[in-house]
Amino acid sequence: MTQAPLLRVRGLHKRFGENEVLRGIDLEVMPGDRIAILGASGSGKSTLLRCLNFMEIPSSGRIELDGQLVGRELRRGQQVEVAYPEAELVGIRQRVGMVFQQFNLFPHMTTLGNVMEGLLTVRGMSRTQAQSQARRQLAAVGLAEKADEYPARLSGGQKQRVAIARALAMEPEILLFDEPTSALDPELVGEVLTVIRGLANEGRTMLLVTHEIGFAYHVANRVLFIAEGGIHEAGTPDEVLKHPRQERTRSFLARHNEFSF
Ligand SMILES: Nc1ncnc2c1ncn2[C@@H]1O[C@H](COP(=O)(O)OP(=O)(O)OP(=O)(O)O)[C@@H](O)[C@H]1O
Ligand SMILES: [Mg+2]
Repeated sequence: MTQAPLLRVRGLHKRFGENEVLRGIDLEVMPGDRIAILGASGSGKSTLLRCLNFMEIPSSGRIELDGQLVGRELRRGQQVEVAYPEAELVGIRQRVGMVFQQFNLFPHMTTLGNVMEGLLTVRGMSRTQAQSQARRQLAAVGLAEKADEYPARLSGGQKQRVAIARALAMEPEILLFDEPTSALDPELVGEVLTVIRGLANEGRTMLLVTHEIGFAYHVANRVLFIAEGGIHEAGTPDEVLKHPRQERTRSFLARHNEFSF
């Protein structure tokens, strides 16, 4: 039996004014896939992730989640466009969770409050339920004892683990990580990567933009190299990271040669 993709992207375009950042991305994400996304600065990696959870609305193309088109197709003469009702996107953003480079925690809320927020406002959970769910998630990232602390009093690594707990609390089907360790001091990178590796080992489906190439090699089952608005090279970690076929991929990797496999 062949499994159906959890996420199917067809002809995804995204432009900002004159700048066409994504020029036709086709991608299928199977359940349990761990996809590492590499590419030069400005190549559109963040834009791709942001389109996948509809923080950015695609300029054109189709995204299906678990076999269902996100949005509603509208026919305009020969053209087919997709409209994205905000109410639907609120639901999609729960199913496709995102973790950012800059954590994006609410500074005026405790750690527990940060993790509870979406459960209260989006899920409409009772405070008691939300609290116990949030405590469970904090414990899962090793931060049970920091529940009542404010973000300003946490290390970067701890903040990022709170952000991961917050994403997990919504029980997403897919997790998107956008350079989750790039803002961290080197000695704090490991604790965050350990949490992400744990999630990968649980079989969670994830897309991860990262410059940690050694980590990508060991954790990902597929690697995409983005350039010129498209997927320039894709394959297994061995294919793309050890034996890249495209010159561009090679020179990118040569500039990130500080990793060891
Ligand atoms: N909201 C926006 N409005 C206008 N232009 C944008 C917006 N977001 C991104 N861009 C442009 O889109 C291009 C791709 O940006 P993006 O942030 O996706 O790149 P990236 O691959 O994530 O880069 P980095 O590795 O530096 O994070 C850039 O030229 C950027 O200036
Ligand atoms: Mg980016």
